[in-house]
Amino acid sequence: MLGRIIGRSAGEITFRFSYNEDVKIGEILVAEDKESNAIFFLRVIDIKYGHEGPENWGLLAAGEMLMMDKRNEEYTLIEKERRLFKIGVCKPLGYVVENEFKKPKTIPSYFSGVRKPRKEDYTFLEKYMGDIEIGKLRSGESIIDMKVGIDGKLLPYHIGIFATTGMGKSNLMRVMAASIMNAGRYGVLIIDPHGEYYEGTGKGLKHHPLAEERLVVYSPNPEYGMNHLMISPYEINVSDVEEIFNFSEAQRDALYSLYGKYGKRWLIELQENDGETLAYEFDRRIQEMTFNVLKRRLERIYSSDIIHKDEKISIVDAIIKQLHEGKVVLVDTSSLYEYEELLIAVMLARRILNKNKSLFKNKEEFSKISPVLITVEEAQRVINEGIFAQIAREGRKFKVGLCAITQQPKLIKEEVLSQLNTFFILGLADEGDRNILKSSSKQDISHLEKEIQTLEIGEALITYPGAPFALPVKIHLYDEFISENAEKIKKDSVDEDFF
Ligand SMILES: Nc1ncnc2c1ncn2[C@@H]1O[C@H](COP(=O)(O)OP(=O)(O)OP(=O)(O)O)[C@@H](O)[C@H]1O
Ligand SMILES: [Mg+2]
Repeated sequence: MLGRIIGRSAGEITFRFSYNEDVKIGEILVAEDKESNAIFFLRVIDIKYGHEGPENWGLLAAGEMLMMDKRNEEYTLIEKERRLFKIGVCKPLGYVVENEFKKPKTIPSYFSGVRKPRKEDYTFLEKYMGDIEIGKLRSGESIIDMKVGIDGKLLPYHIGIFATTGMGKSNLMRVMAASIMNAGRYGVLIIDPHGEYYEGTGKGLKHHPLAEERLVVYSPNPEYGMNHLMISPYEINVSDVEEIFNFSEAQRDALYSLYGKYGKRWLIELQENDGETLAYEFDRRIQEMTFNVLKRRLERIYSSDIIHKDEKISIVDAIIKQLHEGKVVLVDTSSLYEYEELLIAVMLARRILNKNKSLFKNKEEFSKISPVLITVEEAQRVINEGIFAQIAREGRKFKVGLCAITQQPKLIKEEVLSQLNTFFILGLADEGDRNILKSSSKQDISHLEKEIQTLEIGEALITYPGAPFALPVKIHLYDEFISENAEKIKKDSVDEDFF
């Protein structure tokens, strides 16, 4: 036994353990209650020292030691092992009787033995594990040999991935995309502003054994096997450009008037005519100057390298079809300007939501399409308003989920955060960022402050509605995961051939 329970209340349980034993914050321990035959799960939230004897004994002994230090003498503590000990302070997570998990409504009996968990203790968790594998269960810093995955059903309920820079957000997203490729029944759109998903520093999505059939890549400078990232001005909506540039009331009116008159040709007509002609076309209700300002503003888009002028070619329709077929669509925007990247993200997101909304009216067709997850890096830039906020609010009904990746959750509005049902919380250095997550998480994580602060690279807590508690996980390192994956897929196909 590691320790024995000494103090208890339903909110906090303390146990005594040996001075020489090492227990870490975040570790999960179990208490075996012989009276009720239950196993209690306790998460260590604090560790203190304690000593036997009169209350001020420690104070006096320390004074004595300091005196002797001065004289360069050695202080020998008699029965150190017995007199000094440690106290673990734990939050009860719940208990298991007959493989059923129950919320912590009761407490383990006094002096119950506390020990480190064994793999068998966690079998009750297996039924909570979904089909999108992302890592292994963790207890403090040690890894428990049990796979952790989230359920694909959670994708349209939106995901948030939060961590300070370098703590493992993109690695997690790569692992998730790889597992989604294994499953083959969810579509994922990844907008990649840093060009780190296809190849990565070590391995990327292109090294996935099923990449050929389940990964589609779009790039402005396509290599062999990639598609050309090109959009047509016919596909750009007024609402799309409204999200990336700021317009005055008069300018916005002019944009919608252009759309009212020319429909899908609005941007082309704006750019191909001069301000004078346009003002004349609108009976001078709109000033020539307004058109000229708009022309200058949108010139950047119109003359961009990613624009082609052929109405018949649309990669947007192709992308939506691929997503509906359960493919991972990677759009590499690393060589583009930020406004081009945002335009593509906003445009695709709007078209996906609208397409799914129209399919929704036909129950049979709608049931055939795969749910779609749209991932956005640096989500705080776009998620608070416009199409992304709209997807956060109403996407679930239309099988469209968001995966918001950010280093600064505090820059995301609380009403948007509260729509994200699954949180992956990795190491977060900033207190403001931790606080905002505490109030929006679907599980109580208020006692996990210290743990979140001390999470190492790749260590995470996952919360989602229905999870027994905030799950501590070590996310797979993508390169290792993909190598094991390749082995497994090879083996499976050999087995299939054999039968
Ligand atoms: N689960 C993991 N296990 C082991 N090492 C990891 C893990 N996740 C990330 N790392 C290491 O940390 C490095 C940074 O990870 P990653 O690029 O995913 O961080 P990030 O949070 O996306 O950073 P940024 O904010 O700069 O985008 C990786 O190159 C890898 O070496
Ligand atoms: Mg990253």
